[in-house]
Amino acid sequence: MATIDLTTQIADVKFPGFILNASGPKCTTEQELVEIGNSASAAIMTKSCTKLLREGNPEPRYQVLEQGSIQSMGLPNLGYEKYLEILPRLAEFNKPIIASISGLSISDNVAMVSAFQQSNADLLEVNFSCPNVPGKPQLGYDFEQTEKALAAICEVNDKPLGLKLPAYFDFNHFDTVAEILAKYPISFISTINSIGNALVIDPETESPVIRPNNGFGGLCGNYVKAIGLANVNALRARLPEHIKIMGVGGIYNGTDAFEYLLAGADAVQVATCFQEQGPTCFARITLELSMLMASKGYTSLAAAKGKLKRL
Ligand code: DHB
Repeated sequence: MATIDLTTQIADVKFPGFILNASGPKCTTEQELVEIGNSASAAIMTKSCTKLLREGNPEPRYQVLEQGSIQSMGLPNLGYEKYLEILPRLAEFNKPIIASISGLSISDNVAMVSAFQQSNADLLEVNFSCPNVPGKPQLGYDFEQTEKALAAICEVNDKPLGLKLPAYFDFNHFDTVAEILAKYPISFISTINSIGNALVIDPETESPVIRPNNGFGGLCGNYVKAIGLANVNALRARLPEHIKIMGVGGIYNGTDAFEYLLAGADAVQVATCFQEQGPTCFARITLELSMLMASKGYTSLAAAKGKLKRL
């Protein structure tokens, strides 16, 4: 079988493959990050960090579902200073390191982005879309605050910068967010985050399946794939070429990854599938994508990227 070159690039950073872990599952501790280093994930993405260590929300806070998952983790993480300590120990894996940052305020984001400038993170992904901290709305749904945060972050940042965006559901919103992003020196977006504030009810117990926020949490997995594909495709059509797109949402197999490629993704991130199957999923999905593309006669990512055939 002809092997397909699945290497990709964001800003000046070369990725050894198309498929990496999403921030969220199994990327909080040093041991988990080392396991990602040892896997076929094309990069090592960290759990979104805050200024201080957080235990997160009360359990149960994650539930696997027939076609995905719901979670309200509440940003459990070790605090950014711990990630600054861990990152140098991940250099041996020779793949890009992406530090995910999720400040609880604009000034927290600015402080952490500043602190990571001196680190060996190759890229920064700032989370504008955490749905699970009570009293903290998703930044990406407030365009004024989004622009304010972006302007402040860009003042202190010299690393390739990405934003993790929430799902948008309106063409007007795609237009507005793309217009804002194009004004700032960002290298990529990751879209979509889990869809915030879903409610899954167990009819047996007559209760929500998770405890925090009265059972409301972020919906992930197959349920959200069509929305992820729409966000990648709609934003690809609206953003300048130099802003790359990482597709996220419901990627379990090579076919899912291929659909994101057709929609215009430059890389894809895997969350629920990694949570459920562990780090071997990256090699499996990569192989499935290669085999599918070869069977269709593709010899490169570029030949299929964004080449969705409209009816
Ligand atoms: C959490 C969930 C998210 O979807 C996110 O973007 C960041 C954090 C969480 O609950 O930990």
